[in-house]
Amino acid sequence: MVVVIVFRMPPITDLECSRCAEKVSAEKPQTVCPKCAGALYVRYNLGRLRGAANREQIARDGALGGWAGMWRYRVVLPEAVPVTLGEGWTPFLRSRRYPTVFVKEEGANPTGSFKARGLALAVTMAKHYGLKKLAVPSAGNAAGALAAYAAAAEIEAHIFMPKDVPFANYVEATMYGARVTLVDGLISDCGRMVAERKEKEGWFDVSTLKEPFRIEGKKTMGYELVEQLGWEYPDAVFYPTGGGVGLIGMWKAFLELEELGWVSAGKKPKMIAVQSSGCAPVVRAFEEHRTVSTMWENAATFAAGLRVPKPYGDYLMLEILGESAGVALALPDETILASLKDWAKHEGIFLSPEGAASTAAYDHLLRTGFLKAQDRVVLFNTGAGLKYTDVTAAAAGIQH
Ligand SMILES: Cc1ncc(COP(=O)(O)O)c(C=O)c1O
Ligand SMILES: [Zn+2]
Repeated sequence: MVVVIVFRMPPITDLECSRCAEKVSAEKPQTVCPKCAGALYVRYNLGRLRGAANREQIARDGALGGWAGMWRYRVVLPEAVPVTLGEGWTPFLRSRRYPTVFVKEEGANPTGSFKARGLALAVTMAKHYGLKKLAVPSAGNAAGALAAYAAAAEIEAHIFMPKDVPFANYVEATMYGARVTLVDGLISDCGRMVAERKEKEGWFDVSTLKEPFRIEGKKTMGYELVEQLGWEYPDAVFYPTGGGVGLIGMWKAFLELEELGWVSAGKKPKMIAVQSSGCAPVVRAFEEHRTVSTMWENAATFAAGLRVPKPYGDYLMLEILGESAGVALALPDETILASLKDWAKHEGIFLSPEGAASTAAYDHLLRTGFLKAQDRVVLFNTGAGLKYTDVTAAAAGIQH
């Protein structure tokens, strides 16, 4: 007789404030901490999954049960029926030139970006709670992802994004049937508009870090890269940082992996937050040894996802950079563009501008000696280069 053990998703024990540790119930939809407005982390009792034998079950179970993509980690995701379009378990590409460098190709996700992970889970939980109308301010890719998953879940999506987002983001959100408002301003202005109208309109706000499940979806990037390295940590992870959800989510994953005993002993990776010199609030705060950032005036960069002038989760990112012995650095758009061309021409990988910020940052930190050539690093290409043909062509002076 063959015994097939299929793990169930764990019940959430509670949601815990990342700032003051207040606990709130996950029985109903929650936004931020009622006491201090900090972002909430989803907590489970992971004790029963402790031990390396349990992690092997993930691959076996994935092969058996049709739980594709990021849902291979369903044992550490909330108990709910997934709204899925096939997100996650993205390629882990070894560089042709640098044998210790891996590109996590998030452009392979539905809607062409890593935003699919967070919004797949946020929409899954919205459906679980019976929410009918979701709203989001977005630098572009979150809008496309929310629109797609909301369409799949038959939930209304109300989207606010800057009027100069990459055209693909506008087209996809519109095609998915979302209500799209183009705003003459930045994501911070879009956020204000959602906040002002949500109560009257009955919208649930799925802004970055203002509900707990986008972090939870993005944490799967941390599980994946560790599993793809044979359950070992890399030395460093490069993450193009706007609102910072991925960075925060991956760090949560590393802490959980240690609690689970699923990662081989070793130092957690240095987390490298990469921004553009045209909008670098986290870098400035990091360099000034501050615990929070201040509003970046006149934010401008062709790396559209990095145009977040005052990230809500700045305090978490700065904490993580410190704990991981990482660094925050900004590169000018010209350097980012040069790296984008370099990787397209020499590796056959068409990076998003945000992804090219990662590769440019790697070059920089090798030159400065912060990293050695033998260090194993993961560079996130958070979106598909093909989503940005208009902005990349304009930056590169390509016409047809
Ligand atoms: C392609 C891409 N990379 C990076 C980011 C920044 O992501 P996060 O808000 O998780 O820092 C965004 C955000 O829109 C994005 O679209
Ligand atoms: Zn709190």
